Amino acid sequence: MTGPTDPALDPLKARIAEAQLGAEAEERGKVIAIADGLATVDGLPGAELNEIVTFSTGGRGFVLTLEENHINVACLDPADDVSAGTRVVRTGQLASVPIGEGVLGRVLDPLGRPLDKGPVPDSTERLPVERPAPSIIDRDFVSEPVETGLLVVDALFAIGRGQRELIVGERQTGKTSIAVDTIINQANSDIISIYVAIGQRTSAVRHVIDAVREHGRMERTIFIVAEASAEPGLQWLAPFSATSIAEWFRDRGQHVLIVYDDLTKHAATHRELALLSRQPPGREAYPGDIFYLHARLLERASKLSKARGGGSLTALPIAEIEAGNLSAYIPTNLISISDGQIVTSQSLFAANQRPAIDIGLSVSRVGGKAQWGTMKSVSGRLRLDYAQYLEMKLFSRFGGFGDDAMTARMKRGERIAALLAQPRLSPLDLLTQIALLSALNEGLLDDVDVEEIARLKTALPSIFAADSAFSELDLTTAKLDEDTQSAILEAVQTALKHA
Ligand SMILES: Nc1ncnc2c1ncn2[C@@H]1O[C@H](COP(=O)(O)OP(=O)(O)O)[C@@H](O)[C@H]1O
Ligand SMILES: [Mg+2]
Repeated sequence: MTGPTDPALDPLKARIAEAQLGAEAEERGKVIAIADGLATVDGLPGAELNEIVTFSTGGRGFVLTLEENHINVACLDPADDVSAGTRVVRTGQLASVPIGEGVLGRVLDPLGRPLDKGPVPDSTERLPVERPAPSIIDRDFVSEPVETGLLVVDALFAIGRGQRELIVGERQTGKTSIAVDTIINQANSDIISIYVAIGQRTSAVRHVIDAVREHGRMERTIFIVAEASAEPGLQWLAPFSATSIAEWFRDRGQHVLIVYDDLTKHAATHRELALLSRQPPGREAYPGDIFYLHARLLERASKLSKARGGGSLTALPIAEIEAGNLSAYIPTNLISISDGQIVTSQSLFAANQRPAIDIGLSVSRVGGKAQWGTMKSVSGRLRLDYAQYLEMKLFSRFGGFGDDAMTARMKRGERIAALLAQPRLSPLDLLTQIALLSALNEGLLDDVDVEEIARLKTALPSIFAADSAFSELDLTTAKLDEDTQSAILEAVQTALKHA
């Protein structure tokens, strides 16, 4: 017989003492309503913002907003099979993306799922899509340029590493082209590029990918794509998850350029999801947090201090406006969040100016601080000379100028216009840019036919490439010495003779 004091029972007693009694708590949610990719879910009181949940039908979503008695879930998979009553469970995981070298050269959706028929990125590490921006003490001043290869931008509106420069203009005015040209120009730099497509047409996205494949360095570029047909939840996540991917490189001392094409579409998606989840609409029917949404995204662009590795994340958000209305709600928000804007214009585009950048409305608030001294010294007068020319051109319609000085200025201005014109996919390297501007300043181009200037631009780089003295030149200095300066001008003369 064994009694209650039998020592043989001790192990059993111990286990009973350790056992946790009570009901196993598992939250079980249920869809109350679903429309256009947004589900209202009841019964998940512990759910966190941005947490991934799964529907019993297999699809996933993330927690977009928390309300008092329910949560709003944005779907991340087609949700045709989800309906009122569908079960929902929490995963305890926040929306995240795979990060690391493995995502380079890939075309992925905002959750890191391949869109390029390649394998799932073999990255074990993931980062949440929303992360805090670096604090002030972890940042450094923006002082080095991101070269776009577009003379008009690099000379007049230099973009610094860590800066946020908005590209804004009407549709079909070359906004995407400016950003893509900038990505392609990084083929010879240490900058990794990320192109984020939000709400774009499939054909337009393919066009961009093909351009980079053909003219850029695909293995140093990443595409995060949520096209127009993608779930609104994916479009909403895209810029945030792409930024987390960028931050992984930045935090390792690398330099990243990120293009958000475009944030007007992102704002529209945010508005759509907010209206579906019955948030009170504000100005232009956008919810009240739309400013904060883009501010917290663009705050993540940064130049890190030396102590934090000195990496940088430069952001080129794109915004589309209608009828030149820069003072619409979203563009004004974005302009106030950015460190400057490049404004493209329908009328300039129609007048065949390429790139169709409005010099008067564009600005880079970092600008000169991000230019090498060598570039700054040759581009100083350019903006004023060009602006005066544009003004004179306007007035000269009412009659010619007799004045010689005026004629000379017109002549100079026409040559500036020819220098700043650039077809797509024809980036100019820094040395060529400096050479062209030096030649302009020295008056070497004044008697050159305007048509010759385009040829000069294509001839110069090969002359420089053929001479190792040029390819070894350090242009990141304050000023060029006189010998170099005259060698450069001589090269221009040679190019002109052969042009
Ligand atoms: N610098 C340029 N030279 C020649 N064509 C250009 C240039 N920039 C843009 N384009 C053309 O203009 C059209 C619109 O350009 P895109 O960049 O798609 O405009 P957006 O993004 O503003 O809608 C495209 O067909 C593009 O090829
Ligand atoms: Mg575009």
